[in-house]
Amino acid sequence: MKEVGLGILGFGTVGAGVVEGLQKNGDLLAERTGLRLALRAIADVDLERDRGVSVDRSILTQDAAAVVEDPSIDVVVELIGGTTVARDLTLKALALGKPVVTANKALLAEYGDEIYDAARKHGADLFFEASVGGGIPIIRALREGLAGNRITQICGILNGTCNYILTRMEDDLLPFDQVLAEAQEAGYAEAEPSLDVDGLDTAHKAVVLAAQAFGCSVRMSDVLLEGIRDIDAMDIEYASELGYRIKLLAVLKAGDAAIEVRVHPALVPHGHMLASVGGVYNAVLVTGDVVGETLYYGRGAGREPTASAVIGDIADAARNRAAQTPGRVPAFVPLQDTPALRPTDAVRTRYYLRLSLKDAPGMFGHVADILGAHGISIASVVQKEVRSGEYVPVVILTHQAEEGAFHAALREIDALPEVGAPTVRYRIEDFD
Ligand code: HSE
Repeated sequence: MKEVGLGILGFGTVGAGVVEGLQKNGDLLAERTGLRLALRAIADVDLERDRGVSVDRSILTQDAAAVVEDPSIDVVVELIGGTTVARDLTLKALALGKPVVTANKALLAEYGDEIYDAARKHGADLFFEASVGGGIPIIRALREGLAGNRITQICGILNGTCNYILTRMEDDLLPFDQVLAEAQEAGYAEAEPSLDVDGLDTAHKAVVLAAQAFGCSVRMSDVLLEGIRDIDAMDIEYASELGYRIKLLAVLKAGDAAIEVRVHPALVPHGHMLASVGGVYNAVLVTGDVVGETLYYGRGAGREPTASAVIGDIADAARNRAAQTPGRVPAFVPLQDTPALRPTDAVRTRYYLRLSLKDAPGMFGHVADILGAHGISIASVVQKEVRSGEYVPVVILTHQAEEGAFHAALREIDALPEVGAPTVRYRIEDFD
């Protein structure tokens, strides 16, 4: 049987999972691909740590560049992460015409133009299924299964850490800081959690999805980005009473006039499929103009799911290498008629607003006047009988209006003497 030589760069959690998966299902992969996937080198700075898998020590090296250059390595698997060494090695491999399999969403989100361009220029495959949604084959669905569709919308829960924290906050009515601390203790959250909780990881994934779905290059700075760090359990509770769950969503929309890419906490109706995605799970709802709605669900992170995605990519890269058909499914296909990005102020959503309002006659009238003057229509109002000094929480759900109108209205509202604290606001996604 023909052999395809694999070189893994980065022997961390995912690297060890890939080695284990290849060992476990090597025969199955050989049957399926007609190829023997031969692991010939693993590069890492630390060659001593026990990763819980047994490997022949002779294939371990600290020289990642030598692995890339080694003529016996046919497929390079980049699992180092980050955007420095990983970028250099990825570009080096592609320049040699070698296929690269990577899980690196940050690299693709920050340097996608350069990396996609290098793959195209050198006629080399670039696979990155593990970069979004862990074990969920969402990239392959967009690239291949849904190729006959214009993608109109993607809504995703793409960060397991945030979804776990929000689920626990709701289930146990606990504050963010306490749940984060417990999640760190249990290994569900990183010691340095900002990449996850500030929404950057989700934004990286949204940028990767936008390239696949809309054929356009979106910069990180183009993404409307808000994380979950400031979410108060009180709002999770009020949202729940009103029939919503708060989720960190990536929302990508393509209309005739503009596209939008945003990542922020949003109220999702209890009855919607995404509302029932709990804990560390991920889910992606993709709408195409031919297929309609499709939903992808599964474990979005962790050693085994991520390894599953990487191994699937390795199989594809090996098949293309053996059949000499690299680039059969290009990494990125720019589409000519993709509309421009919608300016943030013109994005239209509904809003949940929680005001801290003095409990006295006529107070709400001032707020309603300001919202009305900015063209924002109120859908419902609830005043809670919970006091914080002389102020009470008043929750307003609005109809759709533009971000710019909300910002202007909230500036005026928060300057009113009867408003005791900055208004808390979350967007509502109704999926219509
Ligand atoms: N830290 C991510 C998550 C997984 O919690 O989903 C890697 O993207």
